[in-house]
Amino acid sequence: MSKFLKIQGISKSFRSGNEKLHILVDLALDLERGQMVAVTGASGSGKSTFLHLVGGMDRADAGRILVEGVDVTRLAGKELAEFRNRKIGFIFQFHHLLPEFSALENVMFPLLLRRTPFPQARQKAQELLDEVGLADRGHHKPGQLSGGEQQRVAVARALVGRPSLLLGDEPTGNLDEHTSEAIFQLLLEVHRTHRLTSIIVTHNPRLAALCELEKRLQEGKLVNVTSGN
Ligand SMILES: Nc1ncnc2c1ncn2[C@@H]1O[C@H](COP(=O)(O)OP(=O)(O)OP(=O)(O)O)[C@@H](O)[C@H]1O
Ligand SMILES: [Mg+2]
Repeated sequence: MSKFLKIQGISKSFRSGNEKLHILVDLALDLERGQMVAVTGASGSGKSTFLHLVGGMDRADAGRILVEGVDVTRLAGKELAEFRNRKIGFIFQFHHLLPEFSALENVMFPLLLRRTPFPQARQKAQELLDEVGLADRGHHKPGQLSGGEQQRVAVARALVGRPSLLLGDEPTGNLDEHTSEAIFQLLLEVHRTHRLTSIIVTHNPRLAALCELEKRLQEGKLVNVTSGN
């Protein structure tokens, strides 16, 4: 069977004055459907850059990123927007919820973007809020929720469109240790129940070790991390 995710020869550099910063260099990664990989690495090593490329939010200089056989690097415009809306669930370090809208409305957005009828979108969003433990918080604005609750809403929003690939960029990075652990456990749970393939960037080695696979971004490449290392 072909791999769910096949990344080959990815390179990405940024210009900094006269200099060129080679952030990702011939990076490769293969994941089977259902695998969950934690990505660690020093600050500035390129973890966010890497996730943005996989999620189609930025362009690689070279290489291929095949998600279920579709090369993300070749998508543009409407097709790219559709790919992101249908296939990718993205969770950021800072939840990026819209402050003027309620938790329920925030979770509905990905569905409204794809023109799901309003009542259906509302029902699905409520189901997801129930699932992340916020059944009775739907009417709260983000500012009326704790950091952990905001991140639960972000998880619900990432999953409401039934994506196949979950990308988390330090989704617990902004939380205290206890809340961080709870959100990470939630991610492990939804990874399983939603049959996702997941890439989670984290600075926390203890949380990274909870994932089935751990890779470190180092010198532009993803290298294996063996336990006890
Ligand atoms: N748009 C950009 N223009 C120029 N340089 C950039 C750009 N985006 C990222 N960089 C540089 O690329 C490098 C990698 O950045 P990236 O945000 O991917 O790191 P990171 O591993 O996510 O770090 P952190 O752990 O601090 O979040 C950094 O040196 C950063 O300054
Ligand atoms: Mg980052």
